[in-house]
Amino acid sequence: MAATKVLVIDDDLNIQRVLVFTLKQEGFEVHVASDGQAGVEMAASIAPDLVLMDVAMPRLDGYAATQQIRAAEKAGRRVPIIMLTAEADVEQRVKGLRAGADDDIVKPFHPLELIARIKALLARSGGGQERKPNAEKATLGRLACFYGAKGGVGTTTIAINTAIALAGRLKRKTALVDANLQFGDMRVFLDLGLDSSSIVNAISEPDLDADLLKKLMVSHHAGMQLLLAPPNPESADLVVERQRADPRALSNILALMRKAYDYTVVDMAKSIDDFNLQLFDEADVIFVVMTADLSCLKNVRLVIETMESLGYERGKIQLVLNRSNAFTGINVDNAESALGRRIGYQVINEYRGAISALNSGEPFMSSRPDGPLGQSVSKFATELDAKFATELGS
Ligand SMILES: Nc1ncnc2c1ncn2[C@@H]1O[C@H](COP(=O)(O)OP(=O)(O)O)[C@@H](O)[C@H]1O
Ligand SMILES: [Mg+2]
Repeated sequence: MAATKVLVIDDDLNIQRVLVFTLKQEGFEVHVASDGQAGVEMAASIAPDLVLMDVAMPRLDGYAATQQIRAAEKAGRRVPIIMLTAEADVEQRVKGLRAGADDDIVKPFHPLELIARIKALLARSGGGQERKPNAEKATLGRLACFYGAKGGVGTTTIAINTAIALAGRLKRKTALVDANLQFGDMRVFLDLGLDSSSIVNAISEPDLDADLLKKLMVSHHAGMQLLLAPPNPESADLVVERQRADPRALSNILALMRKAYDYTVVDMAKSIDDFNLQLFDEADVIFVVMTADLSCLKNVRLVIETMESLGYERGKIQLVLNRSNAFTGINVDNAESALGRRIGYQVINEYRGAISALNSGEPFMSSRPDGPLGQSVSKFATELDAKFATELGS
């Protein structure tokens, strides 16, 4: 078999040397271009299996060179491109992804990390071979929002672990959106840094398409894709402003997600504002997470009234009782009769399982799926899936 061809486009001689050495050691056939223009020409003449692209270069910078390589590609062929960026700046990274790069790595990088990224990308793109035309099967395309009747009832915990169960056990393509714009804590729950792209980048992008959205999402090892919350409260304001100025920006994100995933699970903040109202409107189902205490029951009643006044059909709102076996003095029957509604789902109380998962950055659904809490949320996810899968007859 012919060696895999890697084209290095970088003007820095030291970097060229290091890359050529490292790549050759791994058995790659290496070609080098020292500026963007030469790189574009070489990409056309040698048809590499992968390109490493510097950003700042004479004649043509890395963004423009990437765009030109993409523009010259024939349908069905798409060479994987990794940008070698100078800063871990999200704006810069997104600029590269928008220009058509598939991944990026921040200089200085460890050669082993680069090799790992190259291999991952080659594996994803079928080893540099021509991509098969898109024969992907249609997704279920369901949007499930999780809304807490009050803070601390376990909304985020249930959303994350349900998404993991859907992706892992139930083999559904699943996305998880952290829509707690101000105080999203999924980065903490899932042990992720601040430098990943987020919903800010997605909603600010005037030409967001499926490809770019996919790149803005973060892969979690449990199998789901994440659209993270803004890294800080200031950028949360940008999201709110953007949604207010043009609700189609949010609609577009959600529509692209429905196309790409069987389930889009949204962890919502508690406020009832324009952003959340749009999420409620577009959702197929709203799981209102609650515990069995008086203040929660009062809030659930308010939420139900609000949704009824919005004209939602009854089945769109489903109640999930968390920590169902914790002693509160109010049992399920009491709660149901106080609300005049059935509680459709229950998740048990297991403080230790929940808190140790939280402190380790590893959700219980991936570390202890067969523990009591894991089983309880699995059951919920299975019921949810059974309902939606049969509704759609698949
Ligand atoms: N079923 C459960 N049993 C025990 N503790 C839980 C359970 N669900 C959530 N918790 C704990 O409750 C706290 C709040 O959970 P979180 O998911 O952050 O709530 P919310 O998103 O509604 O504010 C966390 O410490 C979490 O570990
Ligand atoms: Mg939360």
